[in-house]
Amino acid sequence: MSPLTAHQEPYYLGDNASRPVPFDGVMTVSHYIMPNFATMDWHQVPREKVVENIRSLTDPGGNLNDRIMMYIHVPYCKSFCHYCNFNRYHYPKQDSERLERYTDYLIKEIDWYMRQPYVQAREFTGIYIGGGSPSTLPVTAVERLSAHLRKVVPNFDGIEKSFTGEPRTLRRPGLLDVLKDHGWDRITFGIETLNAKIHRKIGRLDTRDDVDAVFNRMRDLDYKADTCVDMMYDLPGQTLEGFQAELAELLDCYDPAEIDLFTTIYLPYRPLHKLIMDGRVEQPGSPWQLLSMREHLYDTLSAAGYHNTIAETWSKRPERSQYQTAHCARQDIIGVGCAARGNLRDMVSINPEKVDQWQANVDEQGASTETLQSIGPDGVLDRIMVMFPRYKSLDKALLNSYADRVGEAALARVQHVIDGHLAAGVIDEHDDRYTVNKLGVIWHGNLQTDYLRHTLNTKGEVLMNHLTESRADFDNEDRFEVTPETVYIKEHDAEYPRLMK
Ligand SMILES: C[S@@+](CC[C@H](N)C(=O)[O-])C[C@H]1O[C@@H](n2cnc3c(N)ncnc32)[C@H](O)[C@@H]1O
Ligand code: SF4
Repeated sequence: MSPLTAHQEPYYLGDNASRPVPFDGVMTVSHYIMPNFATMDWHQVPREKVVENIRSLTDPGGNLNDRIMMYIHVPYCKSFCHYCNFNRYHYPKQDSERLERYTDYLIKEIDWYMRQPYVQAREFTGIYIGGGSPSTLPVTAVERLSAHLRKVVPNFDGIEKSFTGEPRTLRRPGLLDVLKDHGWDRITFGIETLNAKIHRKIGRLDTRDDVDAVFNRMRDLDYKADTCVDMMYDLPGQTLEGFQAELAELLDCYDPAEIDLFTTIYLPYRPLHKLIMDGRVEQPGSPWQLLSMREHLYDTLSAAGYHNTIAETWSKRPERSQYQTAHCARQDIIGVGCAARGNLRDMVSINPEKVDQWQANVDEQGASTETLQSIGPDGVLDRIMVMFPRYKSLDKALLNSYADRVGEAALARVQHVIDGHLAAGVIDEHDDRYTVNKLGVIWHGNLQTDYLRHTLNTKGEVLMNHLTESRADFDNEDRFEVTPETVYIKEHDAEYPRLMK
């Protein structure tokens, strides 16, 4: 890897800062979901309306996107990491029958969707099996699910296919062999940190040996799938120098095809935050350090030949993955499995969180969703705008296509935010589009929040305040302490969703 000497881009922080800090506080969250993470008012839609919306998929038209992909959720994990807020359950070790049954129901729900004229009329672009840790499924179940998908999904061999694992279970004998046989071409898994001490503190029980075993097995099999690894930064006890060394080591030892780099999200009163509040795990570094880490990773990965395909993803391939494209509101998504999220036409949904309820619904109505609801053109425009800072590009033609569909106030609000971001120097204007520049990538959570803010209810506002490090506090010694926000969130804990994604 070549050392960083000259910076082609302006430097924002450090000794030779060349641009101002553009916001009064730094958001530590990426907004994955619109609008449910914001408003959290999911269950207000009447049952009859949901049934009618499900039935509407017999109509092939009314689409906003031509393309569609499938997200399949497997909620099981071998153990729970302290920081994680995804939908997951313990891996039923003695009960592989339960996992086989879970797979039966996945197949059932997939088949229901694949029979719908709306789905059949779209171009299929990809499948993503995420979690949780789908690598906990028995190898026989992965084989069965893959063979079934190959049968029912059009052009299975030609589309992008991602499978998520966790290193301890991904290395199990036979699993990577089956994934290779069925042509899964993106294998994604978490490493999170290469610092063994921090790794233990955040509750990861996999080892470096597990990570090595996954890479080695892929090499032995001559399995050419892209390796996509998740890393986290701004972790407890992590220093800038430590993070720089980890990143260098990651590139040196593993040379992954794609790297997701997530700022650690400390959701209040979830285990990692509690451990910090109890003094059992140290506080993370200051927001200044967090910003320096962002700038460092941007420079290092650019210099190492990676493309910043979406705000938190760095890939050796110049183009975005289909999964990311869909995630950024540019394709429809079929959500299969408990807690999976769907976007169809202008409708959004989340499947039931609990496995039993999900299975009962699949038996009863084919698609498990109880929340499929229209968010209307204003809601769709909101989704597009909230995802623009991650997608990093917004065609003016796409924006203009909403001019006749949404009210003047909605359009004016969007334009006002765009103008503010242009003035702050975080986005650039071109003839046909707006793009997010390096400063905008570093602050992309703030950009997203500006588009999201008007949809927040009180619970959302309080959470956003908790997830914002205010400028006045940047020099505080401790990042986390009891605040009015943490007290409120503790009191309303049951009303906050368990999901981030
Ligand atoms: C579904 S897991 C990845 C696959 C697999 N379960 C594993 O852990 O190896 C999703 C990823 O989201 C990220 N993530 C989870 N909770 C997070 C949090 N609180 N803050 C930042 N990133 C988080 C982690 O990088 C994690 O690997
Ligand atoms: S980070 Fe991965 S392995 Fe850990 S609890 Fe979350 S989904 Fe499971």
